[in-house]
Amino acid sequence: MRPYRAVVLLFQFYPLLLLLQSVSSFPHKIIPRLSPHNKQALILRNPDDVISTSAISSKDFKTFFYKQTLDHFNYAPQSYATFRQRYVVNSKYWGGPTSNSPIFAYLGAEEPLDDDVGFIGFLDDNAPHFKSLSVYIEHRYYGKSVPFGSMEAAMKNDTLRGYFSSTQALADYAEILLHVKHKFSAHYSPIIVIGGSYGGKLASWFRLKYPHIALGALASSAPVLYFDNITPQNGYYSIVTKDFKEASKNCYQTIKKSWAEIDKVASKPNGLSILSQRFKTCSRLNNSSELKDFLDTMYAVAAQYNHPPKYPVTMVCKGIDGAPVGTDIIGRIFAGVVSYRGKRTCYDTNAYNQPSETSVGWQWQTCSEIVMPIGRGENDTMFPAYPFDLNEFIKSCKDLYGVSPRPHWITTYYGGHDIKLVLNRFGSNIIFSNGLRDPYSSGGVLEDLSESIVAVTTPKGSHCLDILHSAKTDPDWLIMQRKKEVEIIDGWLKTYYADLQTLNK
Ligand SMILES: *[C@@H]1O[C@H](CO)[C@@H](O)[C@H](O)[C@H]1NC(C)=O
Ligand SMILES: *[C@@H]1O[C@H](CO)[C@@H](O)[C@H](O)[C@H]1NC(C)=O
Ligand SMILES: *[C@@H]1O[C@H](CO)[C@@H](O)[C@H](O)[C@H]1NC(C)=O
Ligand SMILES: *[C@@H]1O[C@H](CO)[C@@H](O)[C@H](O)[C@H]1NC(C)=O
Repeated sequence: MRPYRAVVLLFQFYPLLLLLQSVSSFPHKIIPRLSPHNKQALILRNPDDVISTSAISSKDFKTFFYKQTLDHFNYAPQSYATFRQRYVVNSKYWGGPTSNSPIFAYLGAEEPLDDDVGFIGFLDDNAPHFKSLSVYIEHRYYGKSVPFGSMEAAMKNDTLRGYFSSTQALADYAEILLHVKHKFSAHYSPIIVIGGSYGGKLASWFRLKYPHIALGALASSAPVLYFDNITPQNGYYSIVTKDFKEASKNCYQTIKKSWAEIDKVASKPNGLSILSQRFKTCSRLNNSSELKDFLDTMYAVAAQYNHPPKYPVTMVCKGIDGAPVGTDIIGRIFAGVVSYRGKRTCYDTNAYNQPSETSVGWQWQTCSEIVMPIGRGENDTMFPAYPFDLNEFIKSCKDLYGVSPRPHWITTYYGGHDIKLVLNRFGSNIIFSNGLRDPYSSGGVLEDLSESIVAVTTPKGSHCLDILHSAKTDPDWLIMQRKKEVEIIDGWLKTYYADLQTLNK
C-alpha cells in the first residue's frame, strides 16, 4: 500500500486508465496506499541494485494461467464463470517432490505481478538454502488477471466489481496452490506464503483461514490492525512525523510551519503565481491544495520507503537544512523537494496523482472492504489536521460506486480486536515483520502473540524491506532480520518433516 498519489512513480509505463473519477477528486486522498515496493525508492538505493522489471520474462520464470472461478462462495449459475489468472514459477533450485522440498508462494497484492517478480527477492534469494519452488501469484483484477478482458470493463460493471475482494483472492490462492502441488506431484511439500503490505495481510489471513494449505506465513509490513478503532487514526502520520523529527528537529519544525506559510503566500494577490515560480511547478497552480497535497504525499512516500543506503527522509532534510543562511521557509521546502526528487527543469505537482490500474483497483478495495481509518488531528503531527470522517467516507464511496463500504467486515471475518488474547491459543507459524520507521508499522503486530506467531522488528527498517532482494549495500540489521526470518521458517519446516515421519507419510 502506498500513499494514494504515489503510484505514478512506479506505474508510468502502464497505459493510463482514465476510469471513474480521478483519484485527486476523492475526498480521502490522504489515505496512503500500501505497496511492497516503490521503484523510485529502489533506484535510490544504488544504481547497481536495480532489478530489471523484465525479470518475469527471464528464462528461470515460467508463466502459467489458471482457469479461475469467478465466485467461490455461491452456487448460482453465473458464479461458475471463469477467468484467466496468472502465476509464475521458478523451479531452478527446487529439491523436487521426493524430498518433499518446500514451496514458497508470494501472494500478489494491489498491482500487476510483473514488478513483484523482479523486486521481491526473499523467495529466490533463499531458494538455494530451502531448495524451494518459488511461485508468484497475481491478485485478481490486476495485471493479466482481470476477469472479462480489460480493467476498464471490469470496473465499469458493478456486478463484476462485486467479485473484487480479499476473500475471493484468498480462495483463488488456495485453488492455485493446490493446483501447483498437483502439477508438480508435490502433495507433501509444505507451503510457506509470503506477502508484503496488503499482500502481507493476505499472507497472515491465509495461514489462519487455510492451515491445510499453508504451513506458515511471512507477513511483511502488514497493518492488520489498522481497522475499526484498533489503531489510533493518526498512527500513520505520527510515524511520518517522528521519522522527520528524528532525522532533524529543525527540518521537522520547518515543515510544520510551512503549511501556514504556503497559505499566507497563496492568499496574496499574485500568490499562486509566486508559489508556482518558487516551486518551479510544471503548470501554474490553480490553488494551494495542489502544492500542499504534493508535499504531503512526498513526505509520506519518503518515510514509507525510507530505505538504505540513501534514506529519503534524510535526503529531504538535507535539502531543507542545507539551504543557504537566510533562506525563507518556502525556499527551504523547495530545497527539500530538489534534494529528494533531483534537479529538474520543472516539478510536476501531479507526480503522485496519476490514475493507474493500481489507483483504480485500490480505490475500490478501500471503498468496499479494506477501510483503514487513517487521519490526523490538530497539532498531533507535522501536518495540517485532516481527521478521518467515516460518514463522509461512506458517502463519497457511495457516490462513486453506488454501494456503501463495510468498515467492520475485515475485523468480523479475519479478526484483529484483542489479537493477543485470540491468537495466543489459536493459530501458529506466522511472522509479522515490521520496520519501525514505516508509517504502516503503527497498524502492525509488534509483539509476539504466541510461541510461533511472532513479531520481528527493526528500529531503522522501512516498508517491506526484508522481502526485497538483498543488496551489497544492506546494513547489518537488515541482514540479521532476514537471517532471523529464515531461521524461524527452518524451525517450522523441521517440525513439519518430523511430523511427516511420525505419521509415516
Ligand atoms: C457485466 O458483466 C457480465 C459478465 O460479462 C455481463 O453478463 C453483464 O451483462 C454486464 N453488465 C453490464 C451492465 O454491462
Ligand atoms: C490547473 O488546472 C488545469 C486544468 O484543470 C490543469 O491542467 C493543471 O495541471 C492544473 N495545475 C496544476 C499545478 O495541477
Ligand atoms: C484545486 O484545483 C484543482 C484543479 O482545478 C481541483 O481539481 C481541486 O478540486 C481544487 N482544490 C480545491 C481545494 O479547491
Ligand atoms: C495547535 O497549536 C497552535 C499553535 O501552537 C495553537 O494556537 C492551537 O490552539 C492548537 N490547537 C489545539 C486544538 O490544541
